Amino acid sequence: MPAGDCELNLIPLPVSCERRAGSFRLPAEPTIGCGPGEGLEPVAAYLAARLHAATGRRPRVLGGAAARRAHVRLASELPEKAAGREGYRLSVTPKGAELRAAGAEGLFRAATTLLQLMPGDDAPAVIPCLEIGDRPRFAWRGLMLDVGRYYYPKADILKFLDMMALHKLNVFHWHLTEDQGWRLEIKAYPRLTEVAAWRRHTRFGHERLGAGFDGVPHGGFYTREDVREIVAYAAERFITVVPEIEMPGHAQAAIAAYPELGCTAEQLGVSCQWGVHKHVFNPGKEEVFTFLETVLAETLELFPSEFIHIGGDECPKDEWKANKLCQKRIRTQRLKDEDELQSWFVRRIERFLRRHGRRLIGWDEILEGGLAPGATVMSWRGEEGGVAAARAGHDVVMTPNKDVYFDYYQGDPQHEPLAIGGMLPLEKVYAYEPVPKELTAAEARHVLGAQGNLWTEYMPNFRQVEYMTLPRAAALAEVAWSPREARNLEGFKARLAGMLGRYRAMGWTYRPPKG
Ligand code: ACM
Repeated sequence: MPAGDCELNLIPLPVSCERRAGSFRLPAEPTIGCGPGEGLEPVAAYLAARLHAATGRRPRVLGGAAARRAHVRLASELPEKAAGREGYRLSVTPKGAELRAAGAEGLFRAATTLLQLMPGDDAPAVIPCLEIGDRPRFAWRGLMLDVGRYYYPKADILKFLDMMALHKLNVFHWHLTEDQGWRLEIKAYPRLTEVAAWRRHTRFGHERLGAGFDGVPHGGFYTREDVREIVAYAAERFITVVPEIEMPGHAQAAIAAYPELGCTAEQLGVSCQWGVHKHVFNPGKEEVFTFLETVLAETLELFPSEFIHIGGDECPKDEWKANKLCQKRIRTQRLKDEDELQSWFVRRIERFLRRHGRRLIGWDEILEGGLAPGATVMSWRGEEGGVAAARAGHDVVMTPNKDVYFDYYQGDPQHEPLAIGGMLPLEKVYAYEPVPKELTAAEARHVLGAQGNLWTEYMPNFRQVEYMTLPRAAALAEVAWSPREARNLEGFKARLAGMLGRYRAMGWTYRPPKG
């Protein structure tokens, strides 16, 4: 049966869902059976905690032979070949719920579905009998959060990961460095957190605000301990944290802390103003590569992600044109121009990451001047970059601004909190198709998935981040997880009511859908 006919409030919609007669009532003293399977205990513990929060009943986790008699059973019993790492089957009978997958990751996604089936509020914990078979369409289902423009405390980042887990989103792209703030502790370069993490105030120039500044110092950073905790919390939810260390542009805060990294003798401050800045790293200097490789080496210690994002967007070349060392580099490397200099720079960083067993991903500007071998492209200025990279045999992640920039307005700006501009209502996110129609089937296999981006110039507090994320993340989740042919806007809107109830139960701020 097409899952859309299931009349359950599931988001994202599973691949298949069949209702059966009867229902299962979670007893007053529920048990969760763990196994057979390796490493399932953390999934059972997570499910027990969430079920307790949702129903007030605290489940006991049983292992060994007793697991088979539990009310809710988690078992690694599906071959990975058939189910993939994230696929699962969920069977609910009057006796209980059985969750089966190839391993812990699939069981975690199954547990997420089971939790969505639990009625909210004070309703009795009764769920209908059913049989669900499910697996994601795309492996990369991401959200990016910019913490450079505003710093959000660790607790907010953990909340963001909970929001992602509820939607079966699995890549947290963490934009950690910006002109207005460097947020990652680096042992070898203490001034990054002593100096680059702080700005004097925040200037604005927005048609609705006029121009001015707030007079309020702003800053903060994540310690290595914070990062370890965040990465572990994400891993428990089978979310990969992809760190972004921006280069060669959006680097003014780092250059303010270490002026020798820049292209002029000027002592810069950490920027207090939004926009594209012309002060960028100097690829003519070897010490810039020493700095970046040291920063990346420390980053790799903290983040096990295969992909490491190096930015690459919005790097004006004015300073490179005027700088002797940059021009010398262009000559000695026999490069044509400054675009090729950026390409040379990215290739060098790509080799460094590859030597350390990682893969480079960057914004679509890394195509200009020639794409580094092995690089993956994040297509943001529309779909063209993604199309070009996939045609050239490179992997791509689709995050076109017109479809998935969650910093854009969700409705009439007159009735919305201040945002950067643009217009991206929920329906438009839902209509997004991550595989550009220009691609052949073979090229389309390079599309790893889709991602929504939260640039935070106009999100000075985390409540505003939540408001801009929810419920557009629900639409993105369905785009990236569910079969294309199953998508249906009316059905999605009807099911969204359940999701909004979950947001309320968690105390999360969201934008009420209108109309
Ligand atoms: C970007 O939005 N500058 C990647």
